[in-house]
Amino acid sequence: MSLTSSLRPDSNVAVIGASGGIGAAFVELLASDARVRRVHAFCRVPGEWEQDKVVSHRLDLTDEESIEAAAAAASSDAPLDLVIVATGILHRGECIRPEKAMREIRAETLAEVLAVNAVGPSLVAKHFLPKLRRDCKAVFAALSARVGSIGDNRLGGWTAYRMSKAALNMLVRTMAIEQARTAPESVVVALHPGTVSTELSRPFTARVPPAKLFRPRMAATRLLGVLDALWPDQTGGFFAYDGTRIDY
Ligand SMILES: NC(=O)c1ccc[n+]([C@@H]2O[C@H](COP(=O)([O-])OP(=O)(O)OC[C@H]3O[C@@H](n4cnc5c(N)ncnc54)[C@H](OP(=O)(O)O)[C@@H]3O)[C@@H](O)[C@H]2O)c1
Repeated sequence: MSLTSSLRPDSNVAVIGASGGIGAAFVELLASDARVRRVHAFCRVPGEWEQDKVVSHRLDLTDEESIEAAAAAASSDAPLDLVIVATGILHRGECIRPEKAMREIRAETLAEVLAVNAVGPSLVAKHFLPKLRRDCKAVFAALSARVGSIGDNRLGGWTAYRMSKAALNMLVRTMAIEQARTAPESVVVALHPGTVSTELSRPFTARVPPAKLFRPRMAATRLLGVLDALWPDQTGGFFAYDGTRIDY
């Protein structure tokens, strides 16, 4: 079964964050898709992939030169049909923990979470969007999170992560408008994958009912299905794993 039936056959695709739980699942699914010719897998420490069609490269979101080089490498023999940004940070060791109250706000945490979740993806958009195919549907999707929705925020908390994802959502909307001027077939969207069992969510999933905790492969399968069903009139939107639109 192909999850890229709306893209050109022999697609050239890129996944940023290929070492992550959801990113790795995207790479594996796309590599097993007969309509995909090449999967460019980007992360800070490039790994080995079993499938011949996967090419592994280095990309660090805090190093713009590595992003520019990555975009050039991925599009060296053909424009890109699909770019998925599956990077993100919610916690790291004892230094970065989601805030439960305003007294826990720290400038260093805000700066680092915004750097990875919003500034890095902005630079990815800057260098990868010009490399997208312009003559037919081509997709740029960034993994956001429902907690980045301002309209949906009823619980508070997780200040840095929420702020960073709200900024990412604004980036996506802004890029979608500009990209559509020169690439009217483009689809530029933010995605919410659901709660997925990965390193990022592990400390926070103890009370998530099993039916609501997705395996990375299931989440990636659903998100590829959502992207396959989206068309240019939906560009700039924020979509959940079930295809429903989320309020910004
Ligand atoms: N899991 C969930 O329940 C959930 C829910 C809602 C939204 N999301 C979003 O989905 C996306 C993927 O999350 P995940 O659950 O797959 O997390 P994950 O397994 O922790 O993967 C995070 C990825 O981000 C990469 N990354 C972090 N800092 C980076 C940097 N400076 N440069 C390049 N790459 C960097 C990591 O690379 P390294 O291996 O090099 O660290 C890794 O590939 C994130 O945007 C997250 O916010 C996840």
